[in-house]
Amino acid sequence: MFAQTPTTTSGQIAAYQFTVRLSNSGETVACKAGETLLAAIARTGKKGIPVGCRGGGCGVCKVEVLSGQVHTRQMSRRHVSEDDERSGRLLACCVYPASDLQVCAIGRLGQRLLATSTHQTIHSGQMR
Ligand code: FES
Repeated sequence: MFAQTPTTTSGQIAAYQFTVRLSNSGETVACKAGETLLAAIARTGKKGIPVGCRGGGCGVCKVEVLSGQVHTRQMSRRHVSEDDERSGRLLACCVYPASDLQVCAIGRLGQRLLATSTHQTIHSGQMR
């Protein structure tokens, strides 16, 4: 489930864009290269999306990665145990998609996505 950061032959991070399907709401969100999963979800513009520290410390952005490849940065063990991490339960602010993903938001983030579900596709801030 975990992958290395995609790079070009010159060693620069590749300009990939991945599609993230949110199983809570059925929405699809595009995620830019180098963008966190939380930033992509927040771009949906929904009121009440819990965005806290954006640094892996507060735990409000917990998700479960159901399928796909990601790479991560350090997150608090207070919110993500080793078992959580092995199971793909991660903090969206510390997750960078490395392939198309299917994700289930859990906790407060999941409640907000369910409460505001509209079943639409959002790419780079524009609805299609
Ligand atoms: S926003 Fe605080 S842990 Fe993700």
